Amino acid sequence: MTDAILVTGASSGIGLATAVYLAKHRFEVYVTLRDLGHRDALDAEAARHNVKLNVLQLDVNDQTSIDKAVNTVVERSGGIYAVINNAGILIRGYFEDLSDEEMRRVFNTNVFGTMAVTRTVLPFMRAAQRGRIIIMSSAGGKIASPGASAYCSSKFALEGFGESLAQEVLPFGVHVSLIEPGFIQTELFGRNRHTAANASDPSRPYYQWFQRVEALTDEQLRRVGKPPIKVAKAVYAALTADRPRLRYIVGRRAKLLINLRRYAPGELFDRLWIRQVVRRTTRSEASSQRVG
Ligand SMILES: NC(=O)c1ccc[n+]([C@@H]2O[C@H](COP(=O)([O-])OP(=O)(O)OC[C@H]3O[C@@H](n4cnc5c(N)ncnc54)[C@H](OP(=O)(O)O)[C@@H]3O)[C@@H](O)[C@H]2O)c1
Repeated sequence: MTDAILVTGASSGIGLATAVYLAKHRFEVYVTLRDLGHRDALDAEAARHNVKLNVLQLDVNDQTSIDKAVNTVVERSGGIYAVINNAGILIRGYFEDLSDEEMRRVFNTNVFGTMAVTRTVLPFMRAAQRGRIIIMSSAGGKIASPGASAYCSSKFALEGFGESLAQEVLPFGVHVSLIEPGFIQTELFGRNRHTAANASDPSRPYYQWFQRVEALTDEQLRRVGKPPIKVAKAVYAALTADRPRLRYIVGRRAKLLINLRRYAPGELFDRLWIRQVVRRTTRSEASSQRVG
């Protein structure tokens, strides 16, 4: 019985850390990158930890590359035990500053890319009557923030997708787990931090607020951002538990906030959190603009 695992989007951050961590813990890891030219960090980490990784090309927006990578795993390993749907992108900006094309780009990768990879591996898992589908959601898939409507709505969509799928495939021995990390220090907030074209235009009505949101985000990342290994450990738990949970939250602050939303009555959460965020992000203009 194979323990082959396919990880998407492993050129940096959480995907890379997870691939290396799983390879160190007995799994046969197929690491996929949309651009094989972006493998320097991966090769360096694999060498540093002395682990063997099978590297394949896979762009979650290209079905031909998905089929090719999945077939390679199945041919070489005799099946596929798990997929880590990790590939994701971020385009920041207030909703009115996000174009339809930018919004669709985020959904294509984060939502439809995850669905395409999942759709491709499921027949093999059903045939084997065992498998694990890991979906990299986010704390932003439970609690949304301003300046991140594209990203948060894509992660909310993944939450619904994962929860529904979990109930459909459990009878085949396939478990679905959603991973919900808070802030993690990765390239998502570095070279992969994309901003909507209009959000950088100082004449836009949201410009000042967006600048403030970005500064607060950086501050949070510095203060509470965790290393990607924390997420790798949650993924490992979901892969190795006899009865994996549907959701794994990563990070103390994320746990606190998600539990606050879960247990506080709606209006109280609104007062304690939503209104506070609006106040903090619009502070200097609060007296002259009507918000919230
Ligand atoms: N960092 C956080 O605070 C945080 C928190 C919660 C959830 N997450 C989620 O964790 C996942 C990994 O993000 P990260 O933080 O590790 O960021 P990252 O370092 O930017 O990694 C993102 C990875 O996705 C890849 N990717 C992007 N588009 C792709 C596509 N079309 N096909 C295949 N791969 C693609 C990137 O590859 P390239 O090198 O080619 O760009 C990169 O390897 C994402 O789903 C993200 O939403 C992150």
